[in-house]
Amino acid sequence: MGRLEGRTAIVTGAASGIGRASAELFASEGARVLAVDRPGADLAFEHIAIEALGQDISEDAGPAAIIARAVAAFGGLDIVYNNAGVSGSTPVGDTSDEAFDRQIAINLRAGFRISREAVPHLVKSGVGRLIFTASIMARHTDNGLVAYSASKAGVVGMMRTFALELGRHGVTSNAILPGAIATGMTAASFVRDDIAALWAKKAALKRLGQPIDIARAALFLASDDGGFVTGQALGVDGGLMLRV
Ligand SMILES: NC(=O)c1ccc[n+]([C@@H]2O[C@H](COP(=O)([O-])OP(=O)(O)OC[C@H]3O[C@@H](n4cnc5c(N)ncnc54)[C@H](O)[C@@H]3O)[C@@H](O)[C@H]2O)c1
Repeated sequence: MGRLEGRTAIVTGAASGIGRASAELFASEGARVLAVDRPGADLAFEHIAIEALGQDISEDAGPAAIIARAVAAFGGLDIVYNNAGVSGSTPVGDTSDEAFDRQIAINLRAGFRISREAVPHLVKSGVGRLIFTASIMARHTDNGLVAYSASKAGVVGMMRTFALELGRHGVTSNAILPGAIATGMTAASFVRDDIAALWAKKAALKRLGQPIDIARAALFLASDDGGFVTGQALGVDGGLMLRV
């Protein structure tokens, strides 16, 4: 029996990278999954338990549409994995209001609005799970990451409040903080062998992370295995940040 047998889940950013691996892993463990990504994104999956929804999560009406679709399709909702995100790298002085606001809107605000909309259904579930993909850049930073680091640190703070307020209803809320993972987001950098090798070498485990490494952590948090874990920011970085 799968570890998510009978559960229903939403995974955002499911067309690519961590989200795609998570949607597929959740489905292979018995969940019915609503895979959400931008309209036009590749949301074709082989697994019949995965339904696709093309929806920009940062649109005003996006969160309500996503939750309504999941509840209509599945009759309830147990797991919300807020994973979709964007990055950008510009020095502080060159970071426009628009660029800053866009990362906050997608990485932070949309996750808040989707989660808020999901609360009644997660409470009803009795085994509700909120999961967020933050980043090691929630705790650290790098040149050019002023908006990204702010958005991901915000995700961790927000996640803790959901955990505190919803715990009495059996709902857990946690964030995963990935390190350097080979996905669409990092493809432009890691296509260069020297850059990929540099990041692999920095990690204690001497390799880049793969989407499945993060999906397995999400599965742990989504399943009964993670039932007493809440309010945590879980680094999944292969030991990348053990030394500076
Ligand atoms: N790759 C890494 O090294 C790394 C490290 C730390 C954190 N993360 C985080 O992991 C998460 C997943 O990213 P990934 O690395 O798999 O990258 P990715 O680019 O492969 O996947 C991100 C997905 O999110 C979708 N998305 C972006 N904006 C959206 C919107 N407004 N509405 C709907 N979908 C939207 C994209 O279309 C894409 O399919 C992100 O939150 C990212 O910040 C990634």
